[in-house]
Amino acid sequence: MRPRLFALLFAAAAAAPLPAQERAPAPLIVNPRGRDVVSLDGRWHTIVDPYETGYYDYRLRPSANGWFRNQKSKSATDLVEYDFAASPELAVPADWNTQRPDLMLYEGAVWYQRTFVHPLAPGRRLFVWFGGANYQTRVWLNGVELGMHEGGFTPFDFEITSRLRRDAPNDLVVEVDARRRLDAVPMVNADWWNYGGITRSVLLVETPAAFVRDYVVQLDSRDPRHIAGYVQLDGGSAGVPVQLRIPEAKLSMTVRADANGRAALTLDASKLARWSPGSPKLYDVQVIAGGDTIRDRIGFRTIEARGHQIFLNGKPIFLRGIAMHEESLGSSHRIRDDGEQRALFSLAKELGANFVRLAHYPYREETPRLADEVGLIVWEELPVYWTIQFDNPATLANAKNQLEEMITRDRNRASIAFWSVANETPRDTAPGGGPRLAFLRALIDRAHALDHTRLVTAALEHRYADPNTILIDDPLGAYLDVLGNNEYLGWYDQPLAKTERITWKSAYDKPLVMSELGGAAKAGLHGSADSLWTEEYQERLYRAQVAMLARIPFLAGVSPWVLKDFRSPRRPLPVLQDYFNRKGLVSDSGQKKKAFYVLQQWYRTLAADSSASPATR
Ligand code: GCU
Repeated sequence: MRPRLFALLFAAAAAAPLPAQERAPAPLIVNPRGRDVVSLDGRWHTIVDPYETGYYDYRLRPSANGWFRNQKSKSATDLVEYDFAASPELAVPADWNTQRPDLMLYEGAVWYQRTFVHPLAPGRRLFVWFGGANYQTRVWLNGVELGMHEGGFTPFDFEITSRLRRDAPNDLVVEVDARRRLDAVPMVNADWWNYGGITRSVLLVETPAAFVRDYVVQLDSRDPRHIAGYVQLDGGSAGVPVQLRIPEAKLSMTVRADANGRAALTLDASKLARWSPGSPKLYDVQVIAGGDTIRDRIGFRTIEARGHQIFLNGKPIFLRGIAMHEESLGSSHRIRDDGEQRALFSLAKELGANFVRLAHYPYREETPRLADEVGLIVWEELPVYWTIQFDNPATLANAKNQLEEMITRDRNRASIAFWSVANETPRDTAPGGGPRLAFLRALIDRAHALDHTRLVTAALEHRYADPNTILIDDPLGAYLDVLGNNEYLGWYDQPLAKTERITWKSAYDKPLVMSELGGAAKAGLHGSADSLWTEEYQERLYRAQVAMLARIPFLAGVSPWVLKDFRSPRRPLPVLQDYFNRKGLVSDSGQKKKAFYVLQQWYRTLAADSSASPATR
């Protein structure tokens, strides 16, 4: 194959969406760490493969001799042009970009390989579980493909019971391709770093033949005096006794699984203390079925939207929030462990926040658990961001799959109040709202079907009804429980003085969370409060914003953009940006800017006065 023709073919293949192969089935394993697991985290051998030589032959067809076979050269004439054992290592979990300077902007394929030994007793089952890998992942065990997963932020797993070598090392090979694609979710355009790789933990999860595949243990949103939930068993378990235990509350119930392995749960919850940011009470919960026991820590609370207000445990609450990315302080990489996430949550608590918007994608599974523990209400979001191929059925299937993986993973987390299905997707002027509205309504309906106890939202864009009136009337609002809206008066939307005369209106009798607002400053750059990029300008912008927000009667919360400066390929301005988005209230190294204290002061005032909305003061 002449190189030029190959390059043209490859370029064409890279641009065209890949064939929608069968996806990995929805995660089989919920709450893997609720069992005894074996971690495969650590140093894996890796090969950087920009042309996917390890997967395609020169005709661009999947090769039978792909690198997934991890072949070794057997003789002096046996040609094998790769060698995992001799190749460099990368850490798992971690993005590859920040591990090696040559990978900082790399968006192609990287192969990962490691071996493991796992004795498995007869009758037991074994799964390999991935917390997440960005963006498209193929997995092989001992040369046999287990399947493919698409989506950079949600868990997936494969049963390997029948493919396990029980008396020899097993060879696990993973290809992760971080290329952005026109049919993907997110698409090719995003204001965050495209961190590629196995960015979340990899675990071996062992279960009995019949095991607890899924469970929901939450207050009944229609009757919060009771817990309503279910346990779903896998492995043909009709009639198996299922027990739910909450020892501290002396609660226990046993019910037999039905013909589908499902057991409905209802328990009296009157003795359970309610979870809230100020009192983040969690209970040890055990789900026991046959020979399987899963341990969890669950908080119990209700969340509702009534008129323009949000109610937590039946009382109105104003959400004093902050938005963030899943990026560490200091080193600015995809967050790898609890300590790095705790550092961000500590800053949010120092700000006086009771709410965090985890933009723009699901974070590590452990993160909502940390929010449960420290007492932060969470807005969790799908990366349906800006422009998406709304008229592509495969793209909708992908978005739905990521939604199901997100909700299945996290619907026992007290901290999570909102499922957000989109961020700043341009409204469609076609009559009836066009493909965008249909796409997002399908996601909203699916979210409600999977979890009727939480509020579905999206970050919308407003329009000016006249120069002094901003109107929130995106047709999508009719289908949301809570409206999110992003505004940048004083930054993209000048002049800042507008904030003094703007009136906000909404077409809906629903709560509004101002899901983004703010402006940039380079930490340490001081000067006139009229000059962009100075801390003084950002401070003045936040003062003006707070004065305006306090006048919006249907405002139920805010999550200013953004806690910490973060990497973005869209921000090249030398000295001021250097490929960082500088709208943080703290710098990438954690240095607080003057605006941090403006927001902190407002939140202290709001916290001191328990009524729900600032405007009703
Ligand atoms: C948008 C978008 C953010 C982005 C921000 C900005 O509102 O939602 O992801 O970072 O604007 O421009 O800084």
